[in-house]
Amino acid sequence: MRLIIFGPPGAGKGTQAGLLEQRRGLVQISTGDIIREAMKNETPVGKEAKAYVEKGELVPDTVVRKLAENAIADEGYDDYVLDGYPRTTQQAEWLTEFGEENDTPIDAVLSLEVPDAVIVERLSRRRVHAETGETYHLDHDPPPDSVDPDLIVQRDDDKPETIRNRLSVYREETQPLEDYYADRDALVTVDGQGDIEEVYTRIETALDERVAA
Ligand code: AP5
Ligand code: MG
Repeated sequence: MRLIIFGPPGAGKGTQAGLLEQRRGLVQISTGDIIREAMKNETPVGKEAKAYVEKGELVPDTVVRKLAENAIADEGYDDYVLDGYPRTTQQAEWLTEFGEENDTPIDAVLSLEVPDAVIVERLSRRRVHAETGETYHLDHDPPPDSVDPDLIVQRDDDKPETIRNRLSVYREETQPLEDYYADRDALVTVDGQGDIEEVYTRIETALDERVAA
């Protein structure tokens, strides 16, 4: 199955994509994770992306396209969940062409719906493991005692002013993709509120209904 998980920053895309990987065997392909890894390793892509990510702006389409298409090809074009890609109409059009060229179209776009107030709460309380990138939430999903507290850090783009900019970039550049995928009969909306397992159950139900339809 080839999926996209879609939604605003902090909607829970990474959290739910991780569960789909563990439980459905889909590989999570997160352009955000790939970019952060490149930044950590100071590769040419990482150096180019840094200024954009730190301001909460989108990295240029041509750069992200290569990262996403290479990752899909590396995984064998099947059984993946794209987390954070596509994010602009241009990226979506390229992904549609890529699916046509390889005869591997996207099966469904899961859109997580979460109000802004919840997003701000989730992002301001999010923490990540400095080495593994594992994501936690101080209240809902705290790091286990076995993890060294010095390695639990806040993402640089989770500062309040950057969160605000990421949200406005999302509204302007990314949200229009809901219509793009609704027009192609691929959009599946899922209520992203409630606890992590509740949301996961809704995703499972939505996917089962779609497969059965
Ligand atoms: P990216 O890393 O993709 O960031 P994002 O889209 O802003 O999304 P987040 O990772 O912040 O949120 P999420 O939806 O994954 O939520 P999470 O599961 O962590 O991108 C970062 C940057 O890279 C971009 O700003 C851009 O610069 C660049 N970039 C990446 N892709 C690009 C592209 N295609 N084009 C151009 N630029 C690109 O959950 C959030 C928190 O809430 C966590 O603490 C989690 O534990 C908690 N939580 C999750 N679910 C629940 C729940 N149900 N209840 C309670 N807490 C929950
Ligand atoms: Mg994420």
